[in-house]
This record gives sequence, structure tokens and C-alpha cells, in this order.
Amino acid sequence: MTPSYRITLLPGDGIGPEIMAVAVEVLKAVGRQMNLAFEFEDALIGGAALEATGSPLPAETLNICRASDAVLLAAIGGYQWDTLPRHLRPETGLLGLRAGLGLFANLRPATILPQLVEASSLKREVVEGVDIMVVRELTGGIYFGTPRGIFQTETGHQRGVNTMAYTDEEIDRIGRVAFETARKRRGQLCSVDKANVLEVSQLWRDRITALASEYPDVSLSHLYVDNAAMQLIRWPKQFDTIVTGNLFGDILSDAAAMLTGSIGMLPSASLGSTGPGLYEPVHGSAPDIAGEDKANPLAQVLSAAMMLRYGLNQPTAADRIEQAVNKVLDQGYRTGDIMANNMIPVGCQGMGEALLRALDETNS
Ligand code: IPM
Ligand code: MG
Repeated sequence: MTPSYRITLLPGDGIGPEIMAVAVEVLKAVGRQMNLAFEFEDALIGGAALEATGSPLPAETLNICRASDAVLLAAIGGYQWDTLPRHLRPETGLLGLRAGLGLFANLRPATILPQLVEASSLKREVVEGVDIMVVRELTGGIYFGTPRGIFQTETGHQRGVNTMAYTDEEIDRIGRVAFETARKRRGQLCSVDKANVLEVSQLWRDRITALASEYPDVSLSHLYVDNAAMQLIRWPKQFDTIVTGNLFGDILSDAAAMLTGSIGMLPSASLGSTGPGLYEPVHGSAPDIAGEDKANPLAQVLSAAMMLRYGLNQPTAADRIEQAVNKVLDQGYRTGDIMANNMIPVGCQGMGEALLRALDETNS
């Protein structure tokens, strides 16, 4: 019997639709090869949803996502929406989707592909062989804590407030995902916090430390976030798996991503305890190059591979996609963001076509 999967596609804004189109063709091709059936359904999110429905996350979108086996998102956001009230902004749609699907665990791998070592702004000996997994808590911390808002003070001033809060349960459940992840990798987990200043981080550190006794095969270390940022740039190879809260994870995962030369290469998976996961590139919607066929679709394609691996339990199909990505890079195809001397320049579509050829060749 042909396994069949319902996939919600959220192309979103900016370069989103272009890179999504490439990922869908790649999924269809690997589906034909492996005898997997995909039922794709498009839904609106972000600025595109706002323009069409007045909301950056229409209820219908959440319903479609909930009824599917996995959700593939491209990117949201654009300059024209940056000044809207917060509840209308594209980012609010994405945060609502994460919360609405209960996606508390965000896995962001930063792996240096050997073909792209030269694209990094750091020296070859620093980045060669880097293979880090950032496990970021995604539905708590300062992104969601209350009180929040801009308030009037008694003296007639304005005061902006956000609250960084974590319960023991929230820390434990992301902690478990992180220990399990580290266990399947090289068995080293580094927890990042700001326990020298913040109570919320003290609780974080206490709970993560207590969990360690359940995972004797994983070696646990702790770093303050400022030091972690510095160590990531200084000697990234010291890291295997990193676990941290929402805001620190947002910042550190961008830094980890850039070690690889381009944020245009990195996928991510956001998972809950049950229900469909969300798979999306780490990069944004790049409105400056939208519609110009310049975007790098590889992070989107690798997100589709993560979806196959983590969400649909189809590791062989995921391997095929990852091998095709490797192959096109070996063949020298490069979009602008990862361009180097003597390489073959391609646009978004050209990269997609190269991927389809690579998949075909691996199959024959
Ligand atoms: C990310 C992004 C989002 C975040 C924005 C777009 C809300 O930066 O996925 O890292 O801050 O989580
Ligand atoms: Mg971010």
C-alpha cells in the first residue's frame, strides 16, 4: 500500500512562494521514486493572510494545519507590515501558529557542508566539521510571558514590559527533548542560561541539572548566554547539542547558522508532544530579493527532508533529498548567497532543476 500524507503548505511572504515551489517539486519527485503519496493543501499565513483575510493567522489556517500530518512553512514578513499594530503583524501569525500547535521544541541544526567551508566568514580550521544542534524552547519564555505591553506610569512616562518566565514543567519537557536529542548525537549537552543574573535561569539550571541523572550517557555542561555567544564564534566545534530558552535560542541559532556561511542553508523542525510538526527554514522572507529568482531554496528543501525524517518517519526519502543537495553543491551550483570562485551561478528555479536532475540520477 502506498503511504499517503497530508501536508499543509504555508508559502507566506517574500521569497516564500518561490522556495516553496522548489520544495514541492522535490517532494513530488522523491514521492514518485519511493512510492509515497503526498496530498498538498495550501493555506495562508503572515502578510499574505493579512491582505486576504485581515488576520495574519486565519482560524481556517490553524484548522487545516491541525488536520494534516505535517506543516511545511516558507517564511513570513515584509517591510510594509512592520509598522502595523502588533496583533496584525506577520510575526504574530507565526507565533500564534507555534502556540496553537503546541510546538514547544524547535530543533535547529547547524552543519557545515564541506563544499561551503569557504562561504563562512570564519577561518576554515574554525568551522570545518562543525555539527551543532540547537534545541530552542519555542512556546514560553519572554516571547509569551505576561504581563506584557507598553504602559503609562503615574509620572506620565511610558514603560515597556515583557516577562521572562518558565515553569518547572516547561523546562523539564524541553530538557527531555534535548537530552534525547543529544543521546542520538555525540552525547554532549550544553545548557545555556543567564543564571548569574536571572531567577528564571536559576530554575532552568536547577531543573536541567536534576534531569541529568536520568541520562547518565549524556554529559551535561552549562554556559551563560554571553559566554556561549562568544564560544560559538571562537571555537564552535566544542558544541554538540545546545538547549536554551526562547529568546536566547533565537539569538544563538542565528549565530550558529551563520557559521555555515549562509543562513540560506539551514532547516528547522518545531515539534509538540502530539500532532503535526512544523518545518521551516531558519532564514526569513528576504523581501529585498523576492520575485527575482535569486533566493536559495536549499534550506526550504532541507526542511522538507527534516519533515520526512522527523514528522513522517521516512528516513530514506529524507536521505535522498539530503544527498541530492550534496550532489548539486558538489556539481558547483550556487545561488548568490553561497557563491564562490569558479562556481556555477543559478537562481532559485535553476537550483530546483539541478536538484530534480540529481534525484533522477541517484534513482537510476
Ligand atoms: C525565528 C524568527 C522568529 C522568532 C520571528 C520571525 C518571530 O526570528 O524563527 O527565529 O523570533 O522566533
Ligand atoms: Mg530568529
